Amino acid sequence: MYPFSEQLEFYCEAHTTCESDLLYRLNRETHIKTLRPRMLSGQLQGRLLSMISKMLKPVNILEIGTFTGYSALCLAEGLQENGELHTIEIEEELEEMITKYFNISEHKSKLHLHLGNALEIIPTLSKIWDIVFIDAEKTEYLKYYEMVLQNVRKGGVILADNVLWDGKVVEIDTEIDEETKAIMEFNIFVQNDTRVENLLLPVRDGLLLIEKL
Ligand SMILES: C[S@@+](CC[C@H](N)C(=O)[O-])C[C@H]1O[C@@H](n2cnc3c(N)ncnc32)[C@H](O)[C@@H]1O
Repeated sequence: MYPFSEQLEFYCEAHTTCESDLLYRLNRETHIKTLRPRMLSGQLQGRLLSMISKMLKPVNILEIGTFTGYSALCLAEGLQENGELHTIEIEEELEEMITKYFNISEHKSKLHLHLGNALEIIPTLSKIWDIVFIDAEKTEYLKYYEMVLQNVRKGGVILADNVLWDGKVVEIDTEIDEETKAIMEFNIFVQNDTRVENLLLPVRDGLLLIEKL
């Protein structure tokens, strides 16, 4: 279940700026070569990430969960001249595709890929983040959030993807699986957290915008 019908989703996409040629090719290759291409942010959410980044003009961005690098390239569009984007991916097999597209991106020199478990890599990155995009293991969202919040600047933003989890967060009649439970707990935790203000956008699979106060 999605918040929008497929028809409305197509309409939204048709009235949103197109992907660049680079992103189109990455999107296509991801669909041809990977088992779960649906994980890629796509045009609509990608343009939203890009626009948020361009509005915030970040110096430091952290992404947790690179997959093939689509959202990283979208977020990088708003980086300042001296900006850096650090992105963490646990699957080493994805390195080739990620670096292929990072290397032909105009933001190449600003992109830093870290291969390994985000829970181990996050503490080694001593930066103050302007934007953090949480998009890795769903059962670990709360851990990622607590690990990064102290290093997000005031007015900085954490974005958490898939917070509607295919609509399962409101399907109270069916048995709740581990990931749905974790996402629901994360959403409740953020809603009650006085350190932040939050807005749940029903875009794609649900994007939670969290501003640090
Ligand atoms: C939903 S995909 C990311 C999609 C990408 N952000 C995009 O929008 O195009 C989630 C990714 O997180 C990675 N991942 C899962 N657990 C992880 C962990 N503990 N540390 C780092 N990456 C992890 C997965 O291998 C997968 O590639």
